[in-house]
Amino acid sequence: MCSIIGYSGKLTFAAPLLVESLKKMEYRGYDSVGIATLNNGSILVSKGVGKVTEVDQNMQLNKLPGAIGIGHTRWATHGGVNDKNAHPHYSCTSRIAVVHNGIIENYEELKIKLERDGHAFKSQTDSEVIAHILEKYYEKYNFSIRDTMTHVCEEIRGSFAFVAVFDNGVIAGARFDEPLIIGVSQDALFLSSDVLGFLKYTDKAIFLDNGDIAILENKKYTIFDNNRKIITRPITQVAWELGSAEKGKFAHYTIKEIHEQSDTLLKPFEASNDFETFCKFLNTASNIYITGSGTSYNSGLLGKLLLSKYAKKKSEVYMSSEFQYFSDTVEPNSVVVAISQSGETADVLHSVKRAKENGAKILSIVNIPTSSLARMSDSFLSLNCGPEIGVAATKSFMGQLMILYNIVFILSNRSLRFSVKDQKNLQNLVKRALDLNDKIKDVVNSFDTNLKDIYILGRSIHYPIALEASLKIKELAYIHAEGIAAGELKHGPLALIDKESVVIVLNPNDETYQDIISSTNEIKSRGAFIIGISNLPSDLYDVFIELPETELYLYPLVEIIPLQMMSYYLAIQKQLDPDYPRNLAKSVTVK
Ligand code: AGP
Repeated sequence: MCSIIGYSGKLTFAAPLLVESLKKMEYRGYDSVGIATLNNGSILVSKGVGKVTEVDQNMQLNKLPGAIGIGHTRWATHGGVNDKNAHPHYSCTSRIAVVHNGIIENYEELKIKLERDGHAFKSQTDSEVIAHILEKYYEKYNFSIRDTMTHVCEEIRGSFAFVAVFDNGVIAGARFDEPLIIGVSQDALFLSSDVLGFLKYTDKAIFLDNGDIAILENKKYTIFDNNRKIITRPITQVAWELGSAEKGKFAHYTIKEIHEQSDTLLKPFEASNDFETFCKFLNTASNIYITGSGTSYNSGLLGKLLLSKYAKKKSEVYMSSEFQYFSDTVEPNSVVVAISQSGETADVLHSVKRAKENGAKILSIVNIPTSSLARMSDSFLSLNCGPEIGVAATKSFMGQLMILYNIVFILSNRSLRFSVKDQKNLQNLVKRALDLNDKIKDVVNSFDTNLKDIYILGRSIHYPIALEASLKIKELAYIHAEGIAAGELKHGPLALIDKESVVIVLNPNDETYQDIISSTNEIKSRGAFIIGISNLPSDLYDVFIELPETELYLYPLVEIIPLQMMSYYLAIQKQLDPDYPRNLAKSVTVK
């Protein structure tokens, strides 16, 4: 979604710091960017459409004078992608500027009232109403900043976090269902949507609670809770490593993160993760629900299959955006396993809240241990795989699977042949899959650049991998891709197959093998181009991607790798930027 940053500190020029912070958080949203600084009592705004580096070059953002300021990268929800809709937004008198992340649900009625009162709007965004309501209380009614902020938060509805800079040098922010964190150092205070926004300067963070208002003034911060009483929130020391994300020798974060997987897959076992407690909750629950969005949903789906197959445990899995419609039947003694890399996905948080209201216990699997989801959970396990900057989830998917495999190992009374945790060979296995890189690049380069459709077939534990591969191809290469449970082919999708079709079959030599071979025969006879991903060759495959030999139940961990690489190279072939796919944001914090 959007990223927001506010800075108040010792520097004479805040702009370069704001620009750097925005670059660190750009993964959250990247269609436009802007900053506002306070210089000699005047608020200056510079903004435009494009990525941070681009807009900085064109508009000389980092030259904007002023010692304190705010900044924003946008992921458009209301109003098109244009310079006017980029943040910050001024009040009419330019004495206040505001940046916002989230959605103001009642902005239309507020806008009508404000316009009636003479406020002139310059953008089509919902966010601009905040600037005008701030103006109403601060300038017209002469309220204190605390009271001004309180009134604004009472008038606007929705899920939001915003930060405003006032011409008296105060920076104020509010958090309602969107993340907002204070960074505290000796020399500076920050208000940011992500610790990455200030981690270069301090590892001390205060995670604001829902409904909090924070005011940064005279080198001090004050936090007001929901009842507008001053409150002390704990200072958390966050891990510096969270901020260490560089591309290194790789052209993009996405391919770097794909290649990191041979290291990151064992990281959950290096964190202080309490698997036993987590599993105790699962063992005593009357019902287990698993939920997540996108990639995290796909790993949940595999989790359900593994739990059923190897731990003989029944669970239900729901996409988080759909789970809310089933929340009426979530019983008090049940457990919800919420999976989310960011721990900030609005659909996940919303569905978890509903389940919590019904008395369910919340267990989560997250990459960010300080995230909203982790903090509202009864127990959480951390992927510990470091920052994932590429919008497409890759190494976090691997981490989620590793955690799920380990849970299943424990719940099956360790009856699987070995635990993924002790499986050093697994690292070699993943490395061997990563060695397929050049082969995959060649395969992709042999494809027609106008490729329109790709189908991925899998059964049982391979079906979630087929879904995940199709998601990766869609988001990175903008090619229509469908993951299909192979048994369903004859019930409809077979009608789509012709000589133009590319079909990938996930076909390790397990109980699904013969059925997949039958389906492959059916599609082959319709003229489709077949890519077989398996440990066994077959004459049916036009291209054979050979997987290293391993225990059959571990194949999902291996077969996803060539598919992630294929998605990446399809994007490169089309000269797309795989790190920043169009229309998407890494962390979807709006519903
Ligand atoms: C995955 O490649 C996507 N970018 C997206 O589907 C993502 O997995 C989803 O938005 C969930 O994010 P989360 O894991 O941070 O909750």
